[in-house]
This record gives sequence, structure tokens and C-alpha cells, in this order.
Amino acid sequence: MLQFRIRSIWTLVVVVGTWILPAEAQPRGASWRRRPNFLILLADDLGLGDLGCYGNSTLRTPNIDRLAQEGVKLTQHLAAASVCTPSRAALLTGRYPIRSGMVSSEGQRVLQWAAASGGLPPQEVTFARILQDAGYLTALVGKWHLGLSCASLGDHCHHPLSHGFQRFVGTPFSAMGECTQWVLTQKLGRLRAGLHVLLRPLCPAVLAMAAGHLLRPTRLPRAPVLWASLAAVLLSAASVLLGPLVARADCFLMRNHSVTQQPLRAPGVATLMLREAAHFLHSARRSPFLLVVSFLHVHTPLVTGPRFLGSSPHGIYGDNVQELDWMVGEVLGMLEAEGLREDTLVYFTSDHGGSLEAQVDGQQYGGWNGGYRGGKGMGGWEGGIRVPGIFRWPGQLEAGRVIHEPTSLMDVFPTLCYLAGAEPPRDRVIDGRDLMPLLSGSPGRPPHEFLFHYCEDVLHAARWHPARGGPVWKVHYVTPNFRPGAGACYGLPVCPCSGPGVTPHDPPLLFDVSGDPGEARPLTPRAEPRFWRVLGRVARAVARHRGTLRAAALQLDAPRSLWDPRLQPCCGGFPCRCDREPFFGAA
Ligand SMILES: *[C@@H]1O[C@H](CO)[C@@H](O)[C@H](O)[C@H]1NC(C)=O
Repeated sequence: MLQFRIRSIWTLVVVVGTWILPAEAQPRGASWRRRPNFLILLADDLGLGDLGCYGNSTLRTPNIDRLAQEGVKLTQHLAAASVCTPSRAALLTGRYPIRSGMVSSEGQRVLQWAAASGGLPPQEVTFARILQDAGYLTALVGKWHLGLSCASLGDHCHHPLSHGFQRFVGTPFSAMGECTQWVLTQKLGRLRAGLHVLLRPLCPAVLAMAAGHLLRPTRLPRAPVLWASLAAVLLSAASVLLGPLVARADCFLMRNHSVTQQPLRAPGVATLMLREAAHFLHSARRSPFLLVVSFLHVHTPLVTGPRFLGSSPHGIYGDNVQELDWMVGEVLGMLEAEGLREDTLVYFTSDHGGSLEAQVDGQQYGGWNGGYRGGKGMGGWEGGIRVPGIFRWPGQLEAGRVIHEPTSLMDVFPTLCYLAGAEPPRDRVIDGRDLMPLLSGSPGRPPHEFLFHYCEDVLHAARWHPARGGPVWKVHYVTPNFRPGAGACYGLPVCPCSGPGVTPHDPPLLFDVSGDPGEARPLTPRAEPRFWRVLGRVARAVARHRGTLRAAALQLDAPRSLWDPRLQPCCGGFPCRCDREPFFGAA
């Protein structure tokens, strides 16, 4: 009885309180009980079809599957780009990467060097910045790949700490690539190819000279030939010696502004990241916080600890996915141990789809995109951009809800802003939409009627889900040319976005991705009476979108994309070697 009375008094207080509080004093996020913490789990290159909760029956991903059961699962969650750097820029800023200039027009799909001057421009606003300004403790653990310095070593204008994170431990670059022999060989190959290009024009000249000398009956005929051969040998040797230096140039760990391990000890990174996450969660447990755990998994070279090596039926790639899942479980366990489960919105995603071209001798080193066409690096095909998307917030979001509506990784930005009681910036276009109405099941307009799918700075495709309902249409203006008879650009590291390696379509290809998610059957005007109407409507939306673009300096084009020796972080003096991180062993 007493309890009942107390409860009714409370109800009265709450009702009257809500009624008398002036409406404008309540930021939009205030309709949620209190500001949640945010834990963002970002996988690298993970395919949608690699996870049990998205239909994989042969890999074991129990921790991510449980997250999906306890939360909301998005089935049409789309990355704004099909490669790392632009997709991550879009996630953090809520804007198409072409707005921030985080794309190239020259085929450099991502930042190529830690010591390049390109990167996320200082004037871009990330959700980490907004949350920090709103009183959150913010940290990034793991991969950044959005640049380091602009003009001088250590200005760190693109560094995570200049973009709203108060703590950073991880790899400023996509470091794993260079840290083992596997990719080192690739980079060496690239260097050799570069040298080859340099030397090729010299060859005819050298041959002509050699022939001339051989024909001339003098006593010093072969000297120029000998010198040229010697030079070629020296250059070749230099490229072999340069290899490890190239590795060291990109492959290092930073703790805030200091380089603490160069080169990176790849096998220890997983355990190091987990320890850092645990440490941060413990120290931040009493304040609202944002923790972004940006995994190096499941990008090549797939460094996997002994515990998971050989654990899957899908080779080293599958083993690495299972290790990723274990790491996710560990971080969620830490959250639980700190008693933060109920107060934390957890989000899991991947920066883009799995790479189909990552194959060696028929063995797959990239992800499975679950029946969607294409993969990493292909601007518009679904397999490169449709990624896992899971939101869990116990008690606030209905467990087990599945949403098929198109959503974007860019939506994270405004969603987090509103939940933190902050407003997204008004001085720029934000392309993401607040997802809370959709996630919490309130009726209303879907977040996106149109989404645009870029490949570098070229618009490859656009998607339309009419506000009044009906199928999701997808229009392809440009598609990459696959290797004949194959479903990818095998032989290249990644498909091109423009030039002779792509096909422009006029009229564009039209698909109904609701009925034909594999994009196998392009519609024709005869089979689809709405054909021209849909194309016209999407073309108008594209024109309107283009009208909102402002010229931005392209950060991934030369000269910003080139290695700049002045910007090269180097720890412990030449030849850049140091290790100030404890080694806790492999996972
Ligand atoms: C599960 O993922 C692996 C690794 O990407 C893939 O090879 C396999 O085909 C997938 N299995 C199913 C049933 O989707």
C-alpha cells in the first residue's frame, strides 16, 4: 500500500514536472531517460555474410550474434564509400566524403602513407568533437587512417586528438598492412614496379648505346653498358633495402601524440587494444563516455593469435573473423563488469564490405558479402557497401528488432549528437539522419529517401526508397569492368572508379533491390512500366544533391597523397626503432 502510494506520488511529480518544464529547455535527447555512453565497435573490411546473425552458418560469431539478439539489427545499412579512408571520414563527420575532400580523383583510393600531408581537414567536425564539447570523455583505440600532420612533423592537424578524442592508442595509419612479410612483399612489388617504370625509358637508350659501342672498334666499348647495369643493380638492391624502411614508415603505434612502438609488433596489438579498452572503460565509468574500438581485424594480413589459428573451416580469414568476435565479446564483458551495460548504446559495424580480390592461390583472404554483388572498392555494387549494423541499448531499444529500411553509417553522427543533448553543426550540410525514431519503432518518415554511392569523386549509383513506400530502387550510372566471366576485378588489388576499367551506362542500369537484392536482373522499360519515371526522379535528386556540393581540396590527390619525408614520425632516431609498449603476448 505504502509502496503504491509512493509510486503514485512519483508519477504525479514526473507528470507535473514534464508539464511545467519549458519545452525549449529540453534538448531532443532529453526524451531518453539520460544521456547514454557510446561504445562503437568498428570492424575493418568485414563482409556482411561473415556473421552468423547475417546468415553465415559455418563461422562462429556468438558474441556479435548475441549483440544482435539483444539489440536492433539493420539489414540495409550502407557505408558511404567502399574503401577505408573515405568511409571512416563519412562515419565520423556524418557527411559524404566528397564534402570533406576525403576522396581522390587519381586512383589513390585511401591514404597511402602515414607521412602524407592529406587527412581529415581540421575544419571538419566529428561526433567525437561534439561529444567532448558536451562533456563526454572520448577515446579511440585502434586504427585511424585519416591522416596525421599537415605541414610540419608533429603539428598533428589530422590526428585523433585534433578531432575530438581525448585519448588515442593505436595505429595512425592502416598499420597492419605493412607489419608482416605478406603485405611487405606487395609493397616491395609496387616499389619494383615503380622502378621498372623509371628504368623502362632508359632501356632502349642503353641498348642503342651498347650496340653502337659494340659496333665501334674502340678499346672501351662496354663501359656505358657496365655502368648502366651497375646502376640498375644498385637501384634494385636499394628497393630491397628500402622495404623494411617503408614498413617502418607506416607501421607504428602511437599513444596520444607520441610514437611508442616502431615498427609495430603485430601479434601483440589485439591484447594491447583490449587492455586499453578495459583501462578506459574503468577510468571513464562515472562520466558519460565515447569509446571507439576500431579493430585492425579483419583486414589483411590477418594477424591471428594461436588460440584462433585453425579454429574455423575458412582458413586464416575465418580464424581472424572468429578472433574479432572473441574481442567483441571481451569488450562487451568489460562493459558488463563495470556495470555499464544498461547505460551504454553499443553500435557494431564494418567500414565497408569484404574484398573479393584479396586472394592468393585461390585461398580467400577477404570477406563474404552474403550473396550481394561485388565487394570492397566497387563504388555502387551492394557487396562493397552493405555492412552489418547493430544497435544495442537495453531497456530503450527493443531486443531482436530487425529493420530493413535503408540507413547509412553517416546517421551515427546526428544520432549520437541528439542523444547527448547536442545539436549537429548548422553551418554545413550533414547527410546523416537521426536514427532514434526508426530504431525505437516510432512511426514517421524513413531517414533516407535517397542515398548516393560514390567511387572516389565519381557518382556510381543512387538508391531511392520512395517516402510513400514501395520497392527500393537502385540506379547504376557507372560500373567497374570485372574480369571476363568473373564477379570481381581479379588480378588488380581493387577495381578502378573511372577510366577504361569502368563502363558508363546510358540509360543507367535500374534494379529493384527489394525484389532482386543480388542485383542480378536489370529492369527494362518493357518489363517495368515505371522505368523512365524512376530514372527521372532519381536524376532530379542527383542534380539537387550535386547543387549542395562545394569544392573541397581533395586530400587523397597529389601532392597531399605523396610521402613527405618532413612529416615522417620516427621514434628513437634513424632508423626509427623503439618499443615503449609492454608486450602481453598474442591473443
Ligand atoms: C561464411 O563466411 C566464410 C568466410 O568469409 C565464407 O567463406 C562462407 O561462404 C560463409 N558461409 C556461409 C554459409 O555464408
